[in-house]
Amino acid sequence: QIDKFTYDPGFTSTASCQSAITYIDGDQGILLHRGYPIDQLAEHSSFMEVAYLLLHGDLPKKKELEEFDYTISRHTMLHEQLATFYRGFRRDAHPMAIMCGVVGALSAFYHDSTDITDPQQRLIASHRLIAKMPTIAAMAFKYSIGQPFLYPDNSLSYTGNFLRMTFGVPAESYEVNPIIEKAMDRIFILHADHEQNASTSTVRLAGSSGANPFACIAAGIACLWGPAHGGANEAALNMLREIGDVKRIKEYVARAKDKNDPFRLMGFGHRVYKNYDPRAKVMQQTAEAVLKELKLSDPVLDVAQELEQIALHDDYFIEKKLYPNVDFYSGIILNAIGFPTEMFTALFALARTVGWVAQWNEMISDPEQKIGRPRQLYVGATQRDYIPASKR
Ligand code: SDX
Repeated sequence: QIDKFTYDPGFTSTASCQSAITYIDGDQGILLHRGYPIDQLAEHSSFMEVAYLLLHGDLPKKKELEEFDYTISRHTMLHEQLATFYRGFRRDAHPMAIMCGVVGALSAFYHDSTDITDPQQRLIASHRLIAKMPTIAAMAFKYSIGQPFLYPDNSLSYTGNFLRMTFGVPAESYEVNPIIEKAMDRIFILHADHEQNASTSTVRLAGSSGANPFACIAAGIACLWGPAHGGANEAALNMLREIGDVKRIKEYVARAKDKNDPFRLMGFGHRVYKNYDPRAKVMQQTAEAVLKELKLSDPVLDVAQELEQIALHDDYFIEKKLYPNVDFYSGIILNAIGFPTEMFTALFALARTVGWVAQWNEMISDPEQKIGRPRQLYVGATQRDYIPASKR
């Protein structure tokens, strides 16, 4: 129970920013969004309701949520010229490469929401980014498999619309599976925001220069792509598949402990959590539910659960406080739903856009805000005079 916040002076002097959006206690494994625990939001809320909460600070009343849903749905289409933009990529382009390019390009199309000094334009840009990410991600997937793009169908929920644009085809009607829709919505909630992680800090730093919101989110997408960050969900499933059998787990655990081996267990460890990532627990439960609903048995889930048990009882992992993180189980669910591993990080970016946008708004609307300027510890040469080449 967190009923008050007190920080040691050391922490406040090194903190990169002040924020009221997300609170993490890494030692206790606590994650709150505007004070609400992540497991309660995952259980009872919806991704659009969490988006409203992160953006506006409180859970919406019924009418407020209906208006927010309606506003977002009015921005789900992309300018037709952007569909042409996709055709400039190779079919095997990584979806994150496409998302970096297309999201950055939005600033070339939506000039009426790039003036960051105008609160109304900031809000329109925020709604556009939240609304268009599912369309952009689904189009990246369709482009990679050579299928036609599907326009949004605003009679569906935000997540149902995304599933239909991704897995539907013009030749047939598409029925959204409510269990899959709920699981996908829950995965989006679990990825929505996470305090000042690397990609959110990138968005804030880019935003502090006054860059337009589309460029800032494109910068966040680029940072999230790394395997140490959002790229870990793709890497974790690839690792679990490579292990392939519970009998081979010990070999990989030994490699992860070997100082001379750069191999790390993907989906394990965290910069802040030195306890179980609360999102990983919900993700594991969702993985079991989705596989059961789809009547699928995936040997990779057995490998993941056995690996988790071995690691949680291994002195090295206990001493280093290494636990599964949000990326450890997510790939198993996404694979079961039908996404290729290359799409996993794009889905992370889709969901994290609501957190990036909320954090960007919080920063940009702070009148005291100055341009970010991380300091360095200089360890290079002391001053010295130039030596002509003939004398070196
Ligand atoms: C995300 O910041 C966020 O909030 C990010 C995120 C979000 O929602 O935005 O939570 C999303 O990025 C989750 C993390 C996803 N990345 C992975 O799963 C990749 C695998 N994990 C690691 O690469 C690693 O754990 C990091 C990058 C996440 C953290 O690395 P650190 O900062 O080195 O971790 P640490 O300081 O706690 O490490 C302590 C020790 C180190 O050994 P020593 O130097 O003390 O000898 O544990 C070792 C590390 O080498 N270690 C691991 C390990 N992670 C850390 N050893 C084996 N396997 C691992 N996964």
